[in-house]
Amino acid sequence: MRDPQRIHGSLTAIKTLAVFAALLPFSVFGLNSQNSKQALNQCSPGEFSLMAVSAQQPAAPSAPPQNPIDPAAWGGNHVGKPIPEFVHGDECLFCHRNNIGPTWQKNAHGVTVRQGEDAPELQAMVLKQPALRSVATQIEYFLGSRHRVRFLKKDGYGKFALLTAQAVPGAESRWIDLDKLSWDKDRFGNRCAGCHSTAVDSSAKTFAAFGLDCYACHGDVTLDHTKDTSLMWLSKKRRGDARAITSICAQCHLRMGKSRSTGLPYANNFIAGDNLFQDYEVDFGKADDVSLNPGDRHILRNVRDVVMRGQTTTNCLTCHEVHANSSAKHSSATAGPICTDCHGSKLEVKPYVVHSALCEY
Ligand code: HEC
Ligand code: HEC
Ligand code: HEC
Ligand code: HEC
Ligand code: HEC
Ligand code: HEC
Repeated sequence: MRDPQRIHGSLTAIKTLAVFAALLPFSVFGLNSQNSKQALNQCSPGEFSLMAVSAQQPAAPSAPPQNPIDPAAWGGNHVGKPIPEFVHGDECLFCHRNNIGPTWQKNAHGVTVRQGEDAPELQAMVLKQPALRSVATQIEYFLGSRHRVRFLKKDGYGKFALLTAQAVPGAESRWIDLDKLSWDKDRFGNRCAGCHSTAVDSSAKTFAAFGLDCYACHGDVTLDHTKDTSLMWLSKKRRGDARAITSICAQCHLRMGKSRSTGLPYANNFIAGDNLFQDYEVDFGKADDVSLNPGDRHILRNVRDVVMRGQTTTNCLTCHEVHANSSAKHSSATAGPICTDCHGSKLEVKPYVVHSALCEY
């Protein structure tokens, strides 16, 4: 016999699932996933409850709760505090060269800003473009590689100047704004640094390292973590806190917010473990905007569900594996409205284009 609490839990779950079933007829539930399909096709309605109970968590609510949680209510932040002297990636990779090293040079995070010599294919692309002749030798760094590429040169300590021109890479690269070439000295620091470089001082607008160092996600790491890995954010022993994880990823992936303390479009001295939302403000109302493309919307929705609705079942790491560069495990995540951001009826995946006014592409 099941105890009353479990029965109560399963009844709630049946109701919630029934709402989903109504919301998503033939959609995610019809997908060819080991878990969702088997679970739903092979269960009689009576077995629904067992399935939901065994999942430990009731599905996410489909209507907003009466009182949204104050997203700033937990934890602390490092606004106004000094930027720590963090352990740099070269040191981390010296020890982690076998598990992390081999994939890091191919990871979108690892390559978001690269020195010229590490991106020979982009150097060749620049040399093939006659209109860039006057600046080609000045370009020292590249920002991006997948959808769009921008060009950078050093401009003093921890600063980059940003070239106005852009390239859409591909077999035949396409060029944008080639006609009005100039180096903008302030734009990178004012608009980009916080998410495309590491340990940014928001008042001087300087960075401690170009590109994304391990620090951006793992935080101010102590070497004692070699003996006790629970000291390390995102280690196997420290992946349980949905709010903290969401803050870590959202510091860069919510490309529509701003820091209250600086007014800049990126977080102010965020360190893994902090509560991003004590200083970074975002309009979560947009999560319900159907015109938003699925790529942006699933992020905004997931962040809102965790920080405003107290949802703990599903966070970025439920679906994404950063170092394996994979989202394969998403197909067995608990089904809910987030699935409909990308999935229509049957196996259909809604097309989406990743772009952002902030990132100028
Ligand atoms: C709030 C954080 C944030 C800020 C500020 C920001 N970016 Fe981004 N940028 C991102 C994220 C996150 C992505 C990856 C999005 C994705 O692929 O889904 C990205 C992607 C890009 C890409 C595409 C890279 C590729 O490989 O296709 C370019 C180019 C880019 N940003 C340029 C800029 C420029 C230029 C600025 C400043 C004018 C800027 N970004 C400011 C977070 C930011
Ligand atoms: C002196 C060598 C050394 C350095 C430097 C080092 N680590 Fe480690 N790290 C280890 C050892 C040993 C372990 C525990 C064994 C393991 O899990 O690999 C570990 C564990 C970890 C784990 C947890 C693995 C798990 O169990 O989930 C993470 C994450 C990690 N390190 C990240 C980093 C980062 C980021 C840096 C740089 C800021 C860094 N390490 C620097 C040796 C090192
Ligand atoms: C410091 C900023 C920053 C943080 C923190 C960050 N990202 Fe990213 N992420 C980026 C940027 C920038 C890109 C795009 C890089 C490029 O293409 O140039 C990106 C790309 C991605 C992509 C697309 C990769 C691909 O190849 O398609 C995924 C998925 C992703 N990030 C997930 C995460 C998750 C999950 C977390 C939290 C653990 C996280 N990111 C934390 C900045 C960040
Ligand atoms: C329910 C599962 C799920 C959750 C939760 C989730 N994602 Fe995703 N995300 C996906 C899937 C699936 C894709 C598509 C991957 C593909 O095209 O291979 C994706 C795509 C992305 C992309 C790539 C866009 C592009 O093509 O450049 C980024 C960046 C991203 N997610 C970041 C995040 C972040 C940050 C979070 C947490 C706030 C998050 N995701 C939460 C499943 C999820
Ligand atoms: C964009 C965020 C991000 C950055 C930057 C990042 N990591 Fe990680 N790291 C993660 C996440 C998330 C995990 C949890 C497993 C996963 O998703 O790959 C992780 C897991 C690990 C692990 C444990 C692997 C395991 O077996 O579970 C090690 C070790 C590690 N990272 C080292 C590093 C090192 C070294 C760097 C810098 C070169 C780095 N990470 C940069 C997000 C990041
Ligand atoms: C950000 C977009 C996005 C979100 C959100 C998303 N999916 Fe997907 N899903 C995809 C894409 C793209 C594919 C096809 C490529 C792949 O397998 O990753 C896919 C494929 C699948 C598949 C088929 C995988 C296989 O093994 O053939 C299943 C099942 C699935 N999704 C279930 C879900 C469920 C359940 C949810 C909600 C928890 C969800 N998806 C949320 C984008 C998304």
